[in-house]
Amino acid sequence: MFVQTVYESQITGSFGPLALLALQKTAVIRNRERGITSFLYHDKGRLFHVVEGKPDTLEDTMARIGNSSLHKDIKVRAMLRCEKRSFPRWYFGATNADDPHFKRVYGALKKAQFFNLDVVEAVQILQMVASRKRRAVKMDQFSIKVRNFNRNKEPRGLLAVK
Ligand SMILES: Cc1cc2nc3c(=O)[nH]c(=O)nc-3n(C[C@H](O)[C@H](O)[C@H](O)COP(=O)(O)O)c2cc1C
Repeated sequence: MFVQTVYESQITGSFGPLALLALQKTAVIRNRERGITSFLYHDKGRLFHVVEGKPDTLEDTMARIGNSSLHKDIKVRAMLRCEKRSFPRWYFGATNADDPHFKRVYGALKKAQFFNLDVVEAVQILQMVASRKRRAVKMDQFSIKVRNFNRNKEPRGLLAVK
């Protein structure tokens, strides 16, 4: 038996790609160790996060999340017992309103504002996004590949203005 907690919150500072990456980096390692899986949606500083795992470890993780100064106004929207996880392959998956995978799923459904959906529907939509993302990303390789940059070319950002 698993427990799934769904909460909403508001980011306190800025939540750009770098902040998300830093959060993902630590959360993935910790969640992996503890058998926690999770999926996060964010839009304009507002978060919707599904966190799931065994009851005792989940309680621990939720306490850490609740104590983080990175967000505030945390509201638990649901706590469910479930036989199966909704995001079994994601230690810390994330999407947002501008993510093409999210846009495609959401655009096709013609739904109201994401945060106004009922929790079950919102989680189902994130599951659809997650499965699309999974086709594009290899989840067991949570690393950034070093690209083969062409060393003969001058980096674009360093070109002198003539
Ligand atoms: C939106 C959000 C999601 C988080 N998700 C997880 C998580 O899935 N697993 C985990 O162990 N910690 C999670 N954390 C906690 C962070 O990894 C970290 O422990 C915390 O942000 C540190 O708090 P501080 O920045 O106030 O020191 C989360 C924190 C935030 C703000």
